[in-house]
Amino acid sequence: MTKNLGPHNVSAASYTGDASARPTVIVTRRLPPAVEERLSQRYTVTLNPSDRQYEAAELRAALCTADVLLCTLTDRLTRDVLLVPNRRTRLLANFGVGYDHIDLAAAREAGLIVTNTPGVLTEDTADLTLLLMLSVARRASEGEQELRAGAWTGWRPTHLLGRSVHGATLGIIGFGRIGQAVARRAALGFGMTVQYLARKQSPGDEIAAPVRDLGTLLSTSDFVSLHCPATPDTHHVIRDETLRQMKPTAYLINTARGPVVDSAALARALGDGTIAGAGLDVYEGEPRVHRDLLSAPHVTLLPHLGSATIAARTAMGMIAADNIDAFVGGRQPPHQLA
Ligand code: DGY
Repeated sequence: MTKNLGPHNVSAASYTGDASARPTVIVTRRLPPAVEERLSQRYTVTLNPSDRQYEAAELRAALCTADVLLCTLTDRLTRDVLLVPNRRTRLLANFGVGYDHIDLAAAREAGLIVTNTPGVLTEDTADLTLLLMLSVARRASEGEQELRAGAWTGWRPTHLLGRSVHGATLGIIGFGRIGQAVARRAALGFGMTVQYLARKQSPGDEIAAPVRDLGTLLSTSDFVSLHCPATPDTHHVIRDETLRQMKPTAYLINTARGPVVDSAALARALGDGTIAGAGLDVYEGEPRVHRDLLSAPHVTLLPHLGSATIAARTAMGMIAADNIDAFVGGRQPPHQLA
């Protein structure tokens, strides 16, 4: 049974209190059709056809209504929201690998199980990282904007000359699945020298060399690509001081999480030539983008599209559904965080 309610109707969701009723699942955003169909076949599901983001009050209401909340990175699951009185939800099935929008300590305190969907978005997110590197180094966004503005006067030997990625050094911060997938593409596809900074040495070491500290990575890389999670430790790792450690010819790429970069500092660094350019897919306070980044030179800006392929988003939904099935069946969900 499916109820196509908007988020504002959450309090009217379908759970009746009848012990024989199927478990109730509230899905906070639209999902690929195959995923919504699978969930609807097994559960009493509240979908969100209008795809409007849930506000805090609506999240609280959902937590008091459903057995499972299938949430995404746009749901701010703070302590205040999670510790709502009369909570019914036992599982937060996050659609996505990153979970910095969920206060895990509060979730634990509330007795909530939290799951995520790793693995299936690795290759597509790595592809998008390379897309940003190439776009900013080869000035693709600038070229397209010029052409669309009717300002292209034709081919000429000195028009929009960019930087070649071949043979350049790529420094990767955070060397998990996505960082390693980026390293493979850069080393094997583009002949780049790849180095990385991570908490521990990794199996990807045959294509990338570990460096001992952030300063070394920043000062010796032509491209710096971020692949670490957003945590208190990584907050504003890239800021005025660390941007100044980068080469003036270097580019910063961020497909990880916005808060890893101080947006105002990055806009300044782009404006005054501290670094050569940036390719960004994620932002502090999304969907807002710092206005100085919007007008900064040599920057390609995308709206958080890292995993945005039909295959990846469907696979993410199916993993979220696997996690729910396991939880409802009394088994340990395959991707349980807390
Ligand atoms: C995630 O899964 O955390 C991604 O940011 C979504 O693309």
